Amino acid sequence: MSALIIAIDGPSAAGKSTLAKRLAKDLGFTYLDTGAMYRALALKVLSEGIDISNDGALTELIDRTEIDIAETGGKLKVLLDGEDVSEEIRTPEVSQMASKTSALKVVRHWMLLLQRALGQRGNVVAEGRDIGTVVFPDAEVKIYLDASVQERARRRVEELRKAGRQVSLDETLREMGERDKRDSERDLAPLRKANDAIAIDSTSLDAETLAQRVMQEIHKKPLAN
Ligand code: DC
Repeated sequence: MSALIIAIDGPSAAGKSTLAKRLAKDLGFTYLDTGAMYRALALKVLSEGIDISNDGALTELIDRTEIDIAETGGKLKVLLDGEDVSEEIRTPEVSQMASKTSALKVVRHWMLLLQRALGQRGNVVAEGRDIGTVVFPDAEVKIYLDASVQERARRRVEELRKAGRQVSLDETLREMGERDKRDSERDLAPLRKANDAIAIDSTSLDAETLAQRVMQEIHKKPLAN
């Protein structure tokens, strides 16, 4: 099989990560979680108290930041300046800051270069908001995954509670709504379905059925066989 890119985009908690991880594992591909990269930068912005309206300060921060993702034993590690921050980046505060900083030109430009470089590592399953539209517009398979807002909020609450965080459904709905609005209304690389993406609603699909459905699409591609 020669290099293949599978792009998965969609709003928060639509099931992108579960699907992408599953496909990457089954296919033996690299899993590229671009949201985790935005989150890692956001974590550093928060811990250093950088004013994100100050372009110079943000550029200076980026110039001395290294972000990488690595898989060990099937588990994804997000490395910020060599340190594993996989857990710390999953808080609601980091989600909001990632959404805010991801609207900025200097950040998107840097991430685009980084993500394309990571894409050079070979067969990739990449997930995010602009993968099929901007980062890998020539991806062989593009999926736009969505689900009802109630279901997405329910999933996010479950995920956060499993990680030991107490959050309410109302608070999560509000947080998610704010973020989705910002991510889809920004000027640069907003969240939207690529024209050639396959739209799937995961509201009433279990992970297994969803993965099988996407696998069928992948196997329609001559390169995947
Ligand atoms: O997928 P996620 O929730 O981990 O992403 C966190 C934020 O990062 C999201 O609110 C918007 C931003 N993001 C982006 O702008 N482009 C991407 N390709 C991935 C994430």
